[in-house]
Amino acid sequence: MSQPETELKAAAKTVAANAYVPYSQFPVGAALRTRNGEVFSGCNIENRSYPLGMCGERNAINTAAATGVRPGEITELVVFMPGEHLFSPCGGCRQVIAEFMPADGVVWATNDGEAYKRWTVAELLPDGFSFEGL
Ligand code: THU
Repeated sequence: MSQPETELKAAAKTVAANAYVPYSQFPVGAALRTRNGEVFSGCNIENRSYPLGMCGERNAINTAAATGVRPGEITELVVFMPGEHLFSPCGGCRQVIAEFMPADGVVWATNDGEAYKRWTVAELLPDGFSFEGL
């Protein structure tokens, strides 16, 4: 995987148009692929009670999980955002990403141009919290 999958980027861009971002004006779309080849997407949805807003990544992952997708079954996640700067997922999203993607799963940030950034899950959350080994 040397660049974000075209279908996932398109899905992330499409869902970003539905982002509800009256407070940040920063629409984020996320699309993921599962081991079974299914695609799920989500966008950020904010709230007038600011902490209740939810990121695009988590809305995409939780939508997949609600259909039965389980930890380790998400192989790729593409995050689409406006502007030139490609931001990495927030700390809360990293923890959720690490719950549902394997350590070698790939996360991309991209925008309306050709630019992208790529991380593995292990790069985003090294030595993350886990019950393994208990
Ligand atoms: N946001 C995301 O959707 N994903 C991230 O990884 C970082 C930030 C959202 C949260 C908020 O709605 C807006 O972007 C500005 O922070």
